[in-house]
This record gives sequence, structure tokens and C-alpha cells, in this order.
Amino acid sequence: MIPITVVKVGAEEEALVLQVLRSGMLAQGAMVQRFEEHCREMTGAAHAVAVNNGTTALVVALEALQLQPGDEVVTSPFTFVATLNAILEAGATARFADISDTDFNLDPSTLPTVLTDRTKVLMPVHLYGQAADMAPIAAVADQRGLAIVEDAAQAHGAHYGDRPVGTYGQATFSFYATKNLHSGEGGAVTTNDDVLADRLRLLRSHGMRARYQYELAGHNYRLSDLAAAVAIPQFDRLPSIIDARTVNAEYFNHHLSGLDGVTTPVTVAGRTHAWHQYTLRITADSPVRRDEVLKRLNAAGIGAGIYYPKAVYDYECYRSHPAVRIGAGSPVAECVAGEVISLPVHQHLTEGERDRVVSSVHAAVRA
Ligand SMILES: Cc1ncc(COP(=O)(O)O)c(C=O)c1O
Repeated sequence: MIPITVVKVGAEEEALVLQVLRSGMLAQGAMVQRFEEHCREMTGAAHAVAVNNGTTALVVALEALQLQPGDEVVTSPFTFVATLNAILEAGATARFADISDTDFNLDPSTLPTVLTDRTKVLMPVHLYGQAADMAPIAAVADQRGLAIVEDAAQAHGAHYGDRPVGTYGQATFSFYATKNLHSGEGGAVTTNDDVLADRLRLLRSHGMRARYQYELAGHNYRLSDLAAAVAIPQFDRLPSIIDARTVNAEYFNHHLSGLDGVTTPVTVAGRTHAWHQYTLRITADSPVRRDEVLKRLNAAGIGAGIYYPKAVYDYECYRSHPAVRIGAGSPVAECVAGEVISLPVHQHLTEGERDRVVSSVHAAVRA
């Protein structure tokens, strides 16, 4: 089986983890500070606040905005469920614009139809590692006085123009084990806003300014030094990780374009792609249905997967949720969810494995 992700930690990570273990200081401390410095460097943001995962990063980013019950967050309907769960956890109401079937990200032209008087936040998701179309999204936010929270869980090191993702308002990253950069479990929020950064630090640790001095009702969302030590050595390798994934993605694009009913992924001009996922669309004109293609690929030992099988709201628990507003739905997202299929694109693929992926896709889409 060629797995869709391979998690490897090297000698540098082992040495740093051992250093933490031997120090006896395992909770949030000096390593987390180093981790935060790396997050600032990666994004160019003035502040980075480490937390224990990418979901809690979204929760504190929203809570830092001091939303009131009934305030609305407009996000992408095509994302991992954490995006939606974080909105609900923060006590806000979720609404969905639609996506573009070119970059799988929020289509800014669909925003106006879902904005209401209660909209307070736009939450684009940089899905699969490609930056969302931030300029028009930021323009809408500016015009309407809305905050931006970028869900950059999958997009470490991706750029929109010259600008790394992570500085349009607040941005959140996941360092879950299968992400391009990881700490096993981990997260971070980046921002240029001093006031928000201060609130984020309070929210992460019980709202505590100094010992037993509480300023707001907070959480224990701290990252441990042990986890931070796993991620730290990887930051310097991020450019080469993205390069290797890009080489694989370009190889696939070259060898898989032109197949009937197969659409290869596009990196939009002016943006870079971190290639967290390499995702094809198997469209209606394919002689073989998407689910059959998946079955054939899996049977051939290719760890292809579906990210994600439905629009995020399209489950009974959300359809019946009082804080989830679906409206007329998001037709592009609903259609694309039935078409996508992601292939292994990770930096550990060998040339032989890459060729096997290509030949297996050719075979799987043949009638
Ligand atoms: C788009 C998106 N948002 C949020 C998250 C949540 O991150 P975590 O799993 O670290 O809580 C993920 C992680 O899988 C994600 O892919």
C-alpha cells in the first residue's frame, strides 16, 4: 500500500524531545516559545500563540473577537468538520458561502448573498494547502467591518501573492500528525493585532494574567514542550517539504491531464500551493464513477482518499442544529464533494511509487 500520509520524525526531533524529557519541564515553557518564534517567522505575523490543536486555535481566535450569541461566522462549506465545530464551540452561528471548483476555496462572489446584519467574521479555509482568494475576501471584510479568521490548518507556508497565509486578521494552523508540519497534536494562532494576541494568550490558559489573577473565563488549551520539540526541527525543512510535494504534484498534473472525466488540480496564478493534498475531480463525463475509481485505486494498493465526502453541513446533526444556517445550500460544494479524490503526494514518495500512482489512476478511470 502507498499510504496517503507517512509520518516520520528524524534524529533532530528525537534529540530535542530527549532534551525536554531530561529537563523535567514537560509542560508549556521554553520549547513552546521557540515553536511560536518559528510560527512568527513562517507567517511574518507579529504574534503567534501556540495551543494544543488546530480546533482549539479556531475556538480561541473566535472567542478573542468577543462575539455575542447569534453573531454569525461565514465560512466554507467544503472543509474538515473542525472548522464548523469550532464556530459552534465558540457560541457563534455558522453560515456558508460557496466554493469555486477551481481552487476548492471560498468563492468571494458568493459572499454577498449570505452576509447578514449579524455577520461578524469571515472564515476562509486554505483547503488542501492552497491559499483562498484573500484580496476580494479582505475587501469585503473591510467594507463591512468584519474580522477575518483564516483556517490555515492545511496550508503552512502557502502564499497569496508575496504574502504568506496568516496575517489577514487572525490565522490558525494545525500541527496534527498528518499535516505537512506536525507536533503529533498541536495548533497556533497568528496575528498582527496586539490586543487580540494578549486575549489569545489569556484564553489559552484559564484567562490567567499572573498566578490566580483571572481576567476572563478561559481554557486549558496549552501546548506542551514535548509536542513543540517534535515540530521545531521541521520548520527549517518546510521549504524542502513543499518543494518535494510540488515536484510530485507537477508530475501528476503532467501525467494525468487529458484523461476523460479527470480534472487535475490548479494552482491559481499569484498563489503558491503547499500541496497538503493532491486532489483530482472525477467529473460527470468520466466513464467510471468516483467511488468506483476509489475502490479500484485502493485495490491496487494506492491509499487514495476522499476529502471530504459531503458539504460540511450535510449531516443530520448539523441540519438540525439551531446555530447552523444552511439556507439554499452551497451547490458547487455539494457537487464537488461527490467528485474529489486525493492521491498520495507526500515528500516521502519514491519515483517508483509516483509511477505506480500514475499507472493505477490510468487503469482506474478506464471503462
Ligand atoms: C481545515 C481544517 N481545519 C481545522 C482542523 C483542525 O485541526 P486539529 O485536527 O489539529 O484540531 C483541521 C485538521 O485536520 C483541518 O484540516
